[in-house]
Amino acid sequence: MTKINIAIDGPAGAGKSTVAKTAASKLQYVYIDTGAMYRALAWAALNHNADIQDEAFLSSLLRRTNIELQPSEDGNRVFVNNEEVTGAIRSNEVTAAVSDVSAHAGVREQMVNKQKELAAGKGAVLDGRDIGTTVLPEAELKVYLIASVEERAKRRHLENIEKGLRSELQMMQKDIQARDEKDAGREISPLIKAEDAVEIDTTNLSIPETADRICELAEERIRKS
Ligand code: DC
Repeated sequence: MTKINIAIDGPAGAGKSTVAKTAASKLQYVYIDTGAMYRALAWAALNHNADIQDEAFLSSLLRRTNIELQPSEDGNRVFVNNEEVTGAIRSNEVTAAVSDVSAHAGVREQMVNKQKELAAGKGAVLDGRDIGTTVLPEAELKVYLIASVEERAKRRHLENIEKGLRSELQMMQKDIQARDEKDAGREISPLIKAEDAVEIDTTNLSIPETADRICELAEERIRKS
């Protein structure tokens, strides 16, 4: 059967990664968590005590760093120079640094090239902020997930608690709002809905319901392609 690429974008906490992973597994597609790639670089930068505003250093660090995603039951396992950082890249420190790290043109250019290569064989579901607009503007299916700030903060808060991380609901709301502003306000590849993306509001939808909707849309596009 023809395979397509699926781009899933949206703000932090809209449910992109869980939904993308679930849809990929239903369709037997590869799931690529592009946010994890930026997080891996942010983790490496913090490990080097780097200044996260230093674009030249971060671009050169990325050229020297091997970031690998491996499929697993729980999404992507992430490796930096063969060291597993799957859990470490979800820390509050990495989360606080990643928007700044990902705003640099020299970083984005390299990341976008890697992501295009990973999706070149088709049959991939990528989630991120600029997939439908920049990484895969030719993707056969583009989805833009949204949810209210309150709902997104609640989801991140519960996720943190489940992982045994420190978490406070009000802080989560502020953090989500701040990240929305940074991700949408940056000059290069800001978070923006592609014109031809299908918008799905997940505030009152479960993960399986959202993933099912995406699979239906995918099957429609496959039939048409
Ligand atoms: O999806 P996430 O929260 O794990 O992403 C972490 C950060 O990486 C997010 O603040 C914005 C950035 N990001 C990006 O700029 N472009 C992408 N394609 C994916 C993530």
